Amino acid sequence: MFDIYNGHHSIENTDALAHFEAAVAALARHRPGIASLLDGALAAEPNFIAAHVLKGFAGVLLAYRDYQSDARQSLQAAERVMEKTKPSRSEVCLVEALRLALDGQCLKAADVLEVGLLDEPNHFLLLKLSYGLRFMAGDPVGMLSLTSRVLPKWSPGAPAAGYVFGCHAFSLEEAGEFHDAERFGRRALALAPDDAWGLHAVCHVQEMQSRFDDGIYLIESSRKAWQGCNNFKFHVAWHLALFYLEAGRVDDVLALYDTEIRALRSDDYRDIANAVSLLQRLQQEGVDVGNRWDELAAIASARADETSLMFASLHQILALLACGQQETARSTVAAWQVAASTAATDQSCVANRVGLELGQILISNDKDGAVFDKLARQLPAIGGSIAQRDVFFRELVVLACQANQHDAAQKMLALRAQVRSEDRFHRTMIAKCMVERNMIEKSLAAQPQKALNVA
Ligand SMILES: [Fe+2]
Repeated sequence: MFDIYNGHHSIENTDALAHFEAAVAALARHRPGIASLLDGALAAEPNFIAAHVLKGFAGVLLAYRDYQSDARQSLQAAERVMEKTKPSRSEVCLVEALRLALDGQCLKAADVLEVGLLDEPNHFLLLKLSYGLRFMAGDPVGMLSLTSRVLPKWSPGAPAAGYVFGCHAFSLEEAGEFHDAERFGRRALALAPDDAWGLHAVCHVQEMQSRFDDGIYLIESSRKAWQGCNNFKFHVAWHLALFYLEAGRVDDVLALYDTEIRALRSDDYRDIANAVSLLQRLQQEGVDVGNRWDELAAIASARADETSLMFASLHQILALLACGQQETARSTVAAWQVAASTAATDQSCVANRVGLELGQILISNDKDGAVFDKLARQLPAIGGSIAQRDVFFRELVVLACQANQHDAAQKMLALRAQVRSEDRFHRTMIAKCMVERNMIEKSLAAQPQKALNVA
């Protein structure tokens, strides 16, 4: 049977298929209820391979190890069905990809899904899962390559076409193709007005261009498109807060933090990332955030030995440091040192390439200028978006200034300005670098004079 999103299944059960289609629709629209819809599909048809796999991938995308055993059970269930049936080619790809992802090989898993897309470029689930894995694994080049390859095969009238346009829009934005990104994002919204991801791609363009008035208008006037989302709605609210902050509306930022961004104190790593990076920005601006760090640091402390996703751990380190928990932050880095030296996974590579050194420099700022520059250039490897990673970019600039590495700070600011407009942070830090350099130069110039006077 085929589902309406072009998935080919080795089952014959329309009730199960209807549940599965609703789950895929929820995935496309970032809506809640995917797990119960998949349970409904599996209750109607226990031999539904793609339903088992999607349930497993839900655990993979949540990253933390707590979800791994359920995801492995889903994989085993899918493998058992495979042994007693003749699976479709895409079902084989889905199962193999889940197996690789659970072994920490997300990029290889994405490659396998894309082999399936060679034969079936309109298979939405293969596309969406590969795209999600590449986003998580820090492969923006792969995301754009993927959406550029498949998009020409999609008719705008296809049921999921709007969401595919939204994916392409975000890929373009992360590649710095802002004009085309906004064009595709608005096309996505025209095709699918509930495409929160497409809407969010346009927000990213506005963020990169510091068009905070446009961003505030777009998000506030589109609440219908994103307020029914799962926890993705917290992330869209986070974008709104970034625009408020750039506009200098600090009270609105704090209110939004309390009522929307952190209304639910979950330990989902994406929710934690929103909260941490916003508080860190506020703190960089000298805003008193009260005791808001405390609950984040408590979660970070409970997960100090978690080594599933470097992006998540680096945010946890910021929360721990904000509450003076240096030792726990060090133990997070130590756990990663062990994991990165013993397992050959994507995330071990990320740790060795950038994560370990970045974690260490956040805890103890004792590096030279060359290290700052190297880390700033390697940041995309930690995954997430440019806007999400900016909290670390900003922190590197602040730390370089604190270490009197003003050349390194200005070099990083220039690098940052290559991908985004010169925003308030840029202007503030450039001015700070100039003032501090002048002070140092004056002080150095005064020293020989003093020596002469003494002589
Ligand atoms: Fe975003």
